[in-house]
Amino acid sequence: MQADIEQILLKPDAISSRVDELADEIMADFPPVEPNADSLMIVPVLTGSLIFVADLVRRMPHMVRIEVVTVTSYPGTATESRGAKIVGELPADLTDRHVLIVDDIFDTGRTIEHLKEQLSTLNPASIKTCVLLRKPDRVVVEDKPDYVGFDIPDEFVVGYGLDFDGHYRNLPFIGTLHPDAISSGRGDSE
Ligand code: IMP
Ligand code: MG
Repeated sequence: MQADIEQILLKPDAISSRVDELADEIMADFPPVEPNADSLMIVPVLTGSLIFVADLVRRMPHMVRIEVVTVTSYPGTATESRGAKIVGELPADLTDRHVLIVDDIFDTGRTIEHLKEQLSTLNPASIKTCVLLRKPDRVVVEDKPDYVGFDIPDEFVVGYGLDFDGHYRNLPFIGTLHPDAISSGRGDSE
């Protein structure tokens, strides 16, 4: 698996320090209104945000709720999104809650845009978005994510939750794949 990696872009230590900072920024923006009141409803986008959100929420000392949504954007070995599709139910109780959508990467931005539109029909108090990675050269939507871990070049990356054809999510770092690994289709992507 490691042999399929061409270049490591972000090592575990760099990711960890940035996740610390992101959690601090978010908690400063969402202090508890009263002791034991929920400060946030976290909505992780599965499957890609799995590792990131697990690390992020464990750095949040306040009361939060977590309700996941599952979105598929790249069936199989594609590395170009074919449009985001929500699979299954939307979170049930978002009314008057402050919602934070958490995803692995803001590529074209269409997934987050679509999800924001859908969740805003559920009458939340506010919706903010947090992504670990963004590819500024690929963005096609106007709305920007509120919290961004790292801007990266326009290259397909795997690791720390991000996959190629369902594989490599368990790598502790973020790196690019060898072209051979992409063309042989090693590696379903959400
Ligand atoms: P968007 O709708 O184009 O912003 O695409 C977002 C989704 O595509 C992300 O949630 C990822 O699941 C997937 N994605 C985009 N770029 C990459 C990448 O470089 N590696 C792995 N998955 C990616
Ligand atoms: Mg995703």
